[in-house]
Amino acid sequence: PDASALTRAESLITSIPDYPKPGIMFRDITPLLTDAAALRTVVEALVEPFEGRFDAVAGVEARGFLLAGAAAIVANVGLMPIRKAGKLPRPAASVEYDLEYGSATIEMHDDNAAGARVLLLDDVLATGGTLAAGRELLEAVGSEVIGIATLLEIDGLGGRQALGGDVHAVFRV
Ligand code: PRP
Repeated sequence: PDASALTRAESLITSIPDYPKPGIMFRDITPLLTDAAALRTVVEALVEPFEGRFDAVAGVEARGFLLAGAAAIVANVGLMPIRKAGKLPRPAASVEYDLEYGSATIEMHDDNAAGARVLLLDDVLATGGTLAAGRELLEAVGSEVIGIATLLEIDGLGGRQALGGDVHAVFRV
């Protein structure tokens, strides 16, 4: 994607102060998602560095699903959904990870996971807890995580370090 298309797409991400709590700046990608050109631009930018090197895209519920579904079609690969705990109908692999207060668990089925080369996506990288747990879960079901990509990296929260530096970010704030 060209630079002006990316700049335009980035301008559609809206910042909401003090949501969901005082002091938190919420990054809302909804205006970008609803714009056809911007959506295609960012999805292409997410997968571009990894082209030809992955068999599937994985995304973490809920907002990661939005980009992963689109990316799977654009890249012509399968989609591996990673869910928040308690929603899967069959025995599933699970990983628990720390949140600012408390913890969360993500789960997935292992269909087509063994030996798959997977690109792991999410909308926002903050502390990195979600993507690090997603990578751990994919490895637990036998997949190889060939890359991690995020639409928006929030600097200063240690997310990139938590992932060992290995992340492609389309935008940074
Ligand atoms: C948000 C966002 C990322 C994660 C980033 O998801 O979509 O998945 O937080 O934060 P981290 O880097 O500190 O882990 P959230 O847990 O709010 O769930 P949602 O997608 O269901 O809204």
